[in-house]
Amino acid sequence: MTTSRPNKLTSSSTELPISLSRGSADSLRLQLRRALLGLIRSGALRRGVRLPSTRALAAQLGVSRPIVVDAYGQLTAEGYLESRRGARPVVIVDPGSTPDVGGPDEPVTDPIRLDHRPAMPDVGMFPRNDWMRAVRTVLHRLPAGDLGYGDPRGSPVLRRALADYLGRVRGVIADPSSIFVTSGFAEGRALACAVFHVRGARCLAVEDPSYSDWTAVDRAGLRRLSIPVDGNGMKVEDLGGSGADAVLVTPSHQFPIGGVLSADRRQYLVRWLRDGGRLALEDDYDAEFRYDQAPVGALQGLAPNSIVYAGTASKTLAPALRLGWLVVPSSLVEPMNAELRRWSEGPPRIDQDALAELIVSGAFDRHLRKMRRLYRDRRNHLMSSLRAALPALEVEGAAAGLHLTLRLPDAVDADGEAAILAALLRRGLATDGLGRYSATAAGPRRLFLGYGRISESGIDLSVRVLSEVLADWQRLCQSKCTSR
Ligand SMILES: Cc1ncc(COP(=O)(O)O)c(C=O)c1O
Repeated sequence: MTTSRPNKLTSSSTELPISLSRGSADSLRLQLRRALLGLIRSGALRRGVRLPSTRALAAQLGVSRPIVVDAYGQLTAEGYLESRRGARPVVIVDPGSTPDVGGPDEPVTDPIRLDHRPAMPDVGMFPRNDWMRAVRTVLHRLPAGDLGYGDPRGSPVLRRALADYLGRVRGVIADPSSIFVTSGFAEGRALACAVFHVRGARCLAVEDPSYSDWTAVDRAGLRRLSIPVDGNGMKVEDLGGSGADAVLVTPSHQFPIGGVLSADRRQYLVRWLRDGGRLALEDDYDAEFRYDQAPVGALQGLAPNSIVYAGTASKTLAPALRLGWLVVPSSLVEPMNAELRRWSEGPPRIDQDALAELIVSGAFDRHLRKMRRLYRDRRNHLMSSLRAALPALEVEGAAAGLHLTLRLPDAVDADGEAAILAALLRRGLATDGLGRYSATAAGPRRLFLGYGRISESGIDLSVRVLSEVLADWQRLCQSKCTSR
């Protein structure tokens, strides 16, 4: 049923050419938001045009006032409208500056000026000279015989260097023969899951929220079971009686919340693995960057026969290298080898040896020291700016890595989080929220603010943008309450 006939918009009319259908699968709220957005994008509602009051538009459309309050509020939070208490909202964008198609979920095409996406390193700091030097050294040294097909586990030179490095820096118990060089964690995860399945695993427990590309897990034939996390990492107590026979964890810096798996949970998890002959994949993606305390050793050091340890050069150097590694229990070396031969010859040998050269020459440690200082400064600046501008919002998970977690006000729900993210993106600030990493996680909504790729002056601007967007949101909530 149509609640109103389209009206022609004139300068003297406060009615809008909008009709809503009660027979539609979409809610009235969504239809109204889309319709308003369509009018703004088409230029029918130009910059500076004042919209009808919520009461007038609700009466025109024959809907309740909160529906209009919501739609206005969302468009305000997304940066299309400016709303002041007691005044009708005003359009504040030009049609050409807005995406020209679709509804609220279409990709936004505005350039990213403030890149706060979580777990992103500053690739502009890639040590190009050190890398060139390392490649030159490798090319001088590498015998022609090593330029053929090699050991599918990877370069023996890199596997030796990694065994020493991982033992020294992460407390990983690693023999070069049990190390597999992979094309990043992405390939390592696929391999590990395939081998878990070969070894009889059928149900993989995963953190909720988590780094959530599950294609490899699904393809391996593993069923997923979500286990919630809190500030101390995965709630491993929930594994007992869960039916899971393998687990994927980020113990050193839970992704994305940021907690470190507590000592008692580590003990519990190790017991759970040993008692049931179960297997774990430890994703140790960013542990080199720890700021407030000494690095927490890898979990693998506590149970090397049950845990496949995974590391990556994507955070310390650059994702484009596509270099990662697995350290596997000795009982899995053969199945891993067999699995690997089915699908991969591994990353380029010259790159592998260049990474080994970087590690052995000390250039990698130097780079890490430099980047740790840089990231620590950016993190500290972000934390103090947030504390000054948004003192009521709690920051979590800032002890390590390349991002921190900002708890949003309690009033923000999943839709609110999405609207806030869209509004930030419209102002050039890209970040992620809880919704990206979990469809089910309970508790407060969160933003995950990366600081790897942003200068201190950029951070000042970001915090200003964030404060404005959240203030818009707060205003929306207040007006919703008063209109009820
Ligand atoms: C939780 C987590 N693990 C691992 C990785 C690294 O993946 P890859 O080595 O495939 O680049 C990332 C990258 O964003 C990540 O966020």
